[in-house]
Amino acid sequence: MEKSKGKIHKPDSSHPIYTAANALISGKLVAFPTETVYGLGANALDDNAVKKIYQVKGRPGDNPLIVHVANKGRILPLVKELTLPAKAIMDRFMPGPITLVCKKSSLVPDETTAGLDTVAVRMPSHPVALFFLEIVNLPVAAPSANISGKPSPTSLKHVLNDLGGRIGYIIDGGYCDVGVESTVVDVTGDKPVILRPGYITKRQINDALAELKDSPRPADIKSCIEEENYNDLHPPRSPGTKYRHYAPEAKIIMLFDEKMDIRISHAQKHIANALGKGNKVGVYSSEEFKDALKNSFPDLEYITFGVRKDIKSALSLLYYALRKMDESGVDIILAETFSGEGLETAYMNRLMKAAGEES
Ligand code: TXA
Ligand code: MG
Repeated sequence: MEKSKGKIHKPDSSHPIYTAANALISGKLVAFPTETVYGLGANALDDNAVKKIYQVKGRPGDNPLIVHVANKGRILPLVKELTLPAKAIMDRFMPGPITLVCKKSSLVPDETTAGLDTVAVRMPSHPVALFFLEIVNLPVAAPSANISGKPSPTSLKHVLNDLGGRIGYIIDGGYCDVGVESTVVDVTGDKPVILRPGYITKRQINDALAELKDSPRPADIKSCIEEENYNDLHPPRSPGTKYRHYAPEAKIIMLFDEKMDIRISHAQKHIANALGKGNKVGVYSSEEFKDALKNSFPDLEYITFGVRKDIKSALSLLYYALRKMDESGVDIILAETFSGEGLETAYMNRLMKAAGEES
């Protein structure tokens, strides 16, 4: 389906999106686009359909799924209560790239939440996703539509590479502009906890909560793990954080955020070393960084995201770049890093996980 400037031309009932919707209603899996990444959808209320998601992705059974809805009203039957922080975040950011973890109602089967007493809910903003969710008229459980452990898919081609032959239906919605998964916020308590950083930043969430009585400030999962043994709870409050994720085949070397000339000289050493061992080398960087390297190393696999300060674009193209490097047979990827606090946090979280390091 075509999207243009956030709007779609609503198709009539002969359009194949209705075939995909009927397939999902009858218990099958359908991959669909969202503004973050493609999702692999099943009827969230049908435990047998949900089990297929885990089989097809090779996903560990203790990692719960996000339930997607067409409008905010459809969240109410899925949850036991909406806390004040939950309501404030919903008002400000939905539809959009944010997911809220709430106490679940009895409507949601254990398969969807991996046995937790909470459910993650999200209303995406992608017009094709919203249209699809509207016509299926069901809550749709959907993890990212990749094989477990691989970078999430941001295009139809990525979904086909991972799941082609394993599922019968994929809806094409073009490239996913955000390019990394939604921000996940646990809003079950008075103090929201950011379980996974994303496009909606801690500062933005803070602003949305500032109007509430006592202005609860969001904490991030890292400080909670340190302070409160958050993940030692059984079952852990954020199961997804313990698995290696987003990983390409190639090894990633991160170039720390120092002055340009220092970063270039580090990169030159790493490249000479890797080439000396017969490795194929790729560089994911800004245009200026590539320009400074390409005279000495014209034959590397370069993927650039634009100017250095364009963190939005660096985030949007990160998974695309990781997958493309694998396709080109790159052994070692050098990637620029960022040390800021907004979208930079989401970029570093994904890059460090892809590199097999904690973040
Ligand atoms: O942007 C996104 O969120 C994409 C698109 C498709 O919507 N979906 C996505 O799903 O990234 P997935 O399954 O790849 O990641 C879901 C994350 C996991 O880290 C999981 O552990 C966490 O959300 N999660 C889901 N339900 C939870 C719950 N009840 N409590 C704590 N964490 C939960
Ligand atoms: Mg995923």
